[in-house]
Amino acid sequence: MKIEKFYNWVNDRLDLSGISNFADKKVVPVHKYHFWYGIGGITLFLYIIQVLTGILLLLYYRPTAENAFESVEFIMTSVRFGWLIRSIHSWGANLMIFFLFIHMFSTYFMKAYRKPRELTWISGAFLLILALAFGFSGYLLPWNKLAFFATKVGTEMAAVIPVIGHDVLIFLRGGEEVTGATLTRFFGFHVALLPLITALFLVIHIILIQAQGMSVPPSLSEEYEKKPKSMKFFPDFMLRDAVGWLLVLGLLGILAAIFPWELGEKADPYASAPQGIKPEWFFVFLFQTLKYIPGKILSFSGESLAIFAIAIAVVLWIFIPFLDRKGQKNLHSRTFTVIGIILVLYIIALTAISYFFD
Ligand code: HEM
Repeated sequence: MKIEKFYNWVNDRLDLSGISNFADKKVVPVHKYHFWYGIGGITLFLYIIQVLTGILLLLYYRPTAENAFESVEFIMTSVRFGWLIRSIHSWGANLMIFFLFIHMFSTYFMKAYRKPRELTWISGAFLLILALAFGFSGYLLPWNKLAFFATKVGTEMAAVIPVIGHDVLIFLRGGEEVTGATLTRFFGFHVALLPLITALFLVIHIILIQAQGMSVPPSLSEEYEKKPKSMKFFPDFMLRDAVGWLLVLGLLGILAAIFPWELGEKADPYASAPQGIKPEWFFVFLFQTLKYIPGKILSFSGESLAIFAIAIAVVLWIFIPFLDRKGQKNLHSRTFTVIGIILVLYIIALTAISYFFD
């Protein structure tokens, strides 16, 4: 009763009929793959958790080379539930990127990038790049040994970009070396610039999804048109989504409580790099690819050529909706399914080789 009263109070002032009509009419197609429609929502849920736990960490974190490590140590040992908040933030970041990859590949295999959803795909691809940038910048913030050297190696890659490489390296590091200036910069990217740009792309992504509704995969569309079946978004689909969110929250709680995120040793710029330095798992397949490239290909640097090839592959991936010509007629295109399968196998194989055989 009280909720109804509150609704009427707001409605008298803001006229919510547009929103309630939309919620009333919105439906989600039901078919054998509709389970995958929940993954984007889980990613969104994890992003919200990152923002909330990130704000809490900001209450104690200090972004300087002299204080960063000690401030995180203080959060872990002296702030009440600080260790839990930090662990949730770190595990949450990894789970978010994991679900992001699943969401991207599930929409890819369901060919949801096709007309009219080209911009939904492109805005999503930018969200993935932003999430990776969040991961890369956040990794350095505790200012520990592993993160310090991983950042050194990671930013060095920028230097191989032809012509502007050195300037990009200076921009990222705030100088020639990884120092406190790099930390302050990464902090700015992580807590201000990236959240702002991500919010913009998220709004675009979500408005597009609301405007277009969920797609039906082309392999099922004929069957679906004969016998359409759908579910009301509100409350039926929302409640299903809520179950998925609760399960992920449970998983996150278990991981954070049983395996608190480690801090390691404070970074020492003068120490030698530890053995077997690796980037975070979501960059490992790229890192491993670069290891197999010979130093020189013809008279060019192998590393520069490989980074150039990876950049082209990323651009092609972003523009996939325009490359899949069968998308215009909504026909099933086996070639693009095979490309996706090869890519997934490649990512899994190289990551596994790096962790288990290298
Ligand atoms: C922070 C990152 C992201 C969030 C929070 C997010 C969120 C969502 C949500 C809630 C949906 C609707 C439900 C669903 O299909 O799962 C969706 C749909 C979609 N997303 Fe994302 N997404 C993100 C990143 C991406 C990425 C990386 C891509 C691909 C490159 C992508 C492509 C799409 C497409 C094509 C749809 C439409 C699906 C359809 O109509 O069947 N998204 N997204």
